[in-house]
Amino acid sequence: MNSFELNKLLGALLGTCLVLVAMHIAAGEIFTPEKPAKPGYEIAVKEEQPPAGGAPAAPAAVPIANLLASASPERGADVAKQCQACHNFQEGQGPKIGPDLYGTVGRKIASVSGFNYSAALKSKNGTWDFDTLNTWLAKPSAFAPGTAMTFAGLSNDKQRADVIAYLNTLSHNPAPLPKPQNANAEAPSPTGPGSGQPAGAPASPAPAGAAPAQSNGAPANH
Ligand code: HEC
Repeated sequence: MNSFELNKLLGALLGTCLVLVAMHIAAGEIFTPEKPAKPGYEIAVKEEQPPAGGAPAAPAAVPIANLLASASPERGADVAKQCQACHNFQEGQGPKIGPDLYGTVGRKIASVSGFNYSAALKSKNGTWDFDTLNTWLAKPSAFAPGTAMTFAGLSNDKQRADVIAYLNTLSHNPAPLPKPQNANAEAPSPTGPGSGQPAGAPASPAPAGAAPAQSNGAPANH
């Protein structure tokens, strides 16, 4: 008797479940959502366009000629101290871990006789001019992948230019520095006609300075 009641109960439960499942399937068929062709919202984002002039959009590499215009060999000698672990800079001192760097500018790449260059650097044709040195020293492993110069590079434009200016002094005939490419920046020209003070400016030393110089000079001569 008891088990019969239980069977009825379980049967009812099972029946309910079946009905629910059937309803779920039916509902699914009736209310199938229509998937949109493009998922999600379309958000119209304008791509950042570089300014009309275009030039300074990316951190454009400054031409080495422009960098060299304000480079200092003295500062370069200081920066180049980090090279001395591997390089000699004086003439005839010979190689260390890297080849002697006296007279590098204008020298053929990988051409110090007796130095065992990597195949990577040997495969580079050409001479060390300001441009090649600039790319090389920015990241040696990018200029000559596989190079034996395990030096990360000088990512600082100014320091690199200083070092190159310094390297250029290590020669009997330093190469003339290249002319900066003055595309559209006339402002920084220090000797330009625009840099002159207005003629009547009080700072102008001509009248004030000339007089005392003469009056000082006159008594001394007499
Ligand atoms: C850890 C050692 C090491 C340091 C530091 C290092 N170099 Fe070098 N350098 C080398 C080696 C090794 C080579 C030869 C590379 C090859 O054969 O691939 C080399 C090659 C060169 C060359 C090419 C020379 C040639 O005859 O073709 C130049 C130029 C140069 N180094 C400049 C520098 C300067 C400038 C610095 C410092 C800013 C510097 N190196 C720092 C190890 C070094």
